[in-house]
Amino acid sequence: MAGCLRWVVASWLVIAVTGGAYGELARAKDHPPEPGVPLQTILELETTARLLAVLLNSGRAVVNDNQELLDDPTRGNKGFTAEAFEHQLMDMFRAHASIDLRELPAARLPQRTKDLLRVLVEVSKQVVAESQDAINRQGVEFKGFIPAVFGSRVAGRFAERTGVRLKQTSLQPRNPANAPDTFERAALEQFADPSHPRERVISEVAAGDKALRLLFPLYATRGCLACHGEPKGAKDKTGYPKEGLRLGQNAGAISVTLPIRR
Ligand code: HEC
Repeated sequence: MAGCLRWVVASWLVIAVTGGAYGELARAKDHPPEPGVPLQTILELETTARLLAVLLNSGRAVVNDNQELLDDPTRGNKGFTAEAFEHQLMDMFRAHASIDLRELPAARLPQRTKDLLRVLVEVSKQVVAESQDAINRQGVEFKGFIPAVFGSRVAGRFAERTGVRLKQTSLQPRNPANAPDTFERAALEQFADPSHPRERVISEVAAGDKALRLLFPLYATRGCLACHGEPKGAKDKTGYPKEGLRLGQNAGAISVTLPIRR
């Protein structure tokens, strides 16, 4: 009975977070998972996936906030070191997640969540450290160090170290490697609907109970508009046609695939 109740609660949670639109739910309804992923586990995985998306997005936002400095052709050394970046990253993450990474060991989070956050900070710093030559090049404006490039380098290293996949995606991706799969596309279409509550994530337990998948929506800030804003079709400084986004509009998502440990 308790097991059955747990399944009912868990499937209610999946309905709540996905709007009931996905395959997993239909599968779960017909064949209750045995023994299933406990609700507590789903909640923890969802929190972990959300925090990882917020942390990757915080790093992207720090790069975005410094884009003018990074693109300044008159300056050599920009002082945008791994340590300077880390400081801003921690402030940005605290503002968005109300968690102080400087005091992570004392935070009330599961150990796996803490470990993953720590590794994500480490690889984010590594990417900034390894980009110093490009960042400090004088006489060049566009050096290719932008939020999306930072994000995909960080994601690559993070997957190598942890097996957790982070991906930046949108309905009309500039980079074909960022193209959405079926689950991502369905979530992105919901995010694009202006009635979708801001920052509400969409998640599901992937087929076979092997992983939790979560999509965290991104919104266009002023800094993004230089490249993704108006006029639609005009080339941005990276050479891509702009998407015509306006301030506050959904600008894609970060997709997290977090393996479920048994
Ligand atoms: C300097 C120009 C520039 C700025 C500023 C910028 N982007 Fe991008 N964005 C790009 C480029 C170029 C790509 C493709 C990168 C690649 O080849 O992987 C991209 C890719 C992306 C992607 C992945 C999907 C795709 O199109 O491949 C998302 C999501 C995204 N940007 C959102 C944002 C958001 C949100 C902001 C503001 C926080 C932002 N970008 C700021 C130029 C920019």
